[in-house]
Amino acid sequence: MERLDKRLAATGRWSRKEVMELIRQGRVSVGGETALRPEQKCEAHTPVCVDGQSVGGGMTYLMLHKPGGLLSATEDKRQSTVLDLLPEHYRRQGLFPVGRLDKDTEGLLLLTNDGELAHRLLAPKSHVDKVYLAHVEGQPDEADVQAFARGMTLEDGLECMPAGLVPLGEGKCLVTLREGKFHQVKRMLAAQGKPVTYLKRLSMGPLSLDEGLEKGGWRTLTEAELTALRAAVE
Ligand code: URA
Repeated sequence: MERLDKRLAATGRWSRKEVMELIRQGRVSVGGETALRPEQKCEAHTPVCVDGQSVGGGMTYLMLHKPGGLLSATEDKRQSTVLDLLPEHYRRQGLFPVGRLDKDTEGLLLLTNDGELAHRLLAPKSHVDKVYLAHVEGQPDEADVQAFARGMTLEDGLECMPAGLVPLGEGKCLVTLREGKFHQVKRMLAAQGKPVTYLKRLSMGPLSLDEGLEKGGWRTLTEAELTALRAAVE
């Protein structure tokens, strides 16, 4: 059990004084109930929200609209990473991206410091589908749909599990993967003679990219999103 004011201040987002004010204004809830006292105790796993946004069970969960040009890493000596988009206090919390997107890939990236949830989301046996929008050279067709559905072995021997492909016309398609091997979408489409010219991740299990987020924009997950993600890997 931990004091509510301590838990909120530990996120690095508010000072103790600001936390008191948030609670006084009735903007904080603990397990769905409006919090009344800063010294109130809460369990580490009890959801705490400010203005309906989860601050997590002592954990942080952010959705980022990754722009092209940034590495999906926590730090790099030479290049900018997705963490450079976040305010300083988030960088002190040990956040890391859940799965990597290539430098030039855009779209949904979940950032958290909840290692257990991240591990479960990435395990192929959890069946968390990742959906990508790909623009390619050429037109994806029924033969590509069948090849993806069968699963494929790439030239270097990499085995890819069966995957979904939906042609959208105009050289675009949706690709659904359960795993996340290095450059997997690009390599599978290239193996079909359809090199990728643009790639964007749209969703990960029940979590969809908030199209209201501009490229480079981020927000904390809502309580509903976090609950759905947890349920997806139970
Ligand atoms: N597959 C790719 O080829 N690249 C990504 O960034 C994600 C999936």
